[in-house]
Amino acid sequence: MPTNQSPYLQFPKLATTRLRLRLLRPEDDTAIFAYKGRLGEPRIPRIEQHADISETQYFIAKCLSKFYSRKALYWAITLSPSDKVIGTLALSAMHGDSKMVHRAEISCALSPNYHRKGLMSEALIAVINYAFQKWNTLERIHSEVSVDNEPSFQMNLKLGFTLEGVLRNYTDDGGNLIDIRILSLLRADWAANSLYRNEQPSHALQPPLGPLASQSLKS
Ligand SMILES: CC(C)(COP(=O)(O)OP(=O)(O)OC[C@H]1O[C@@H](n2cnc3c(N)ncnc32)[C@H](O)[C@@H]1OP(=O)(O)O)[C@@H](O)C(=O)NCCC(=O)NCCS
Repeated sequence: MPTNQSPYLQFPKLATTRLRLRLLRPEDDTAIFAYKGRLGEPRIPRIEQHADISETQYFIAKCLSKFYSRKALYWAITLSPSDKVIGTLALSAMHGDSKMVHRAEISCALSPNYHRKGLMSEALIAVINYAFQKWNTLERIHSEVSVDNEPSFQMNLKLGFTLEGVLRNYTDDGGNLIDIRILSLLRADWAANSLYRNEQPSHALQPPLGPLASQSLKS
């Protein structure tokens, strides 16, 4: 049953067949640096690489700050039963001109050790189900993908996203302006796509009360 209750009251822990999605912790720095610090790998436009673990620590602090300021949910992805982080997934709620959350952006990255096993698709299905089920005002989720990032583009298409167009010279990437593909999944697309019906309910784990639980909601 969809509700308007803010996910920022309690961090929404999610579970899928193979994965657990939980709040990032400062002590996840080593596990995340293990894949974000692989500087020898070919660089993917817009995907952060970290030269030093302090950059990973800053990344985690930034993600937590966005959660506590109610701008975005950043999940740490772990492969059950291990608690070690193998990737991250973000859902940034965007209010536009109204106070209602009617659009959100999704972004993600997975350790190369775990690519092409369907893991990010599994995580995304859980998060997208969670988002549309939780926010009854949410109408669209979009994804911004560099035109050079074929794996992410193909994954989005496979998840039922529609290519809306290319934004030319849209964003700065290491000093170069690059083109971005915009893809979106509307609530109607989600409701009609059987891919999103086969996963177990995404709120399988009830989170404990978080630090914001006693605060009142602004929107
Ligand atoms: C994009 C990314 C998240 C995909 O994660 P993943 O767990 O490997 O993806 P999945 O296994 O769920 O793949 C789902 C589908 O995406 C497509 N896909 C994934 N990797 C691909 C690749 N290297 N080449 C072509 N298609 C690919 C395929 O259609 C795949 O389905 P299939 O394996 O049945 O053919 C991962 O490559 C990654 O972390 N890349 C670096 C960060 C990044 O680009 N993030 C997205 C920024 S918008």
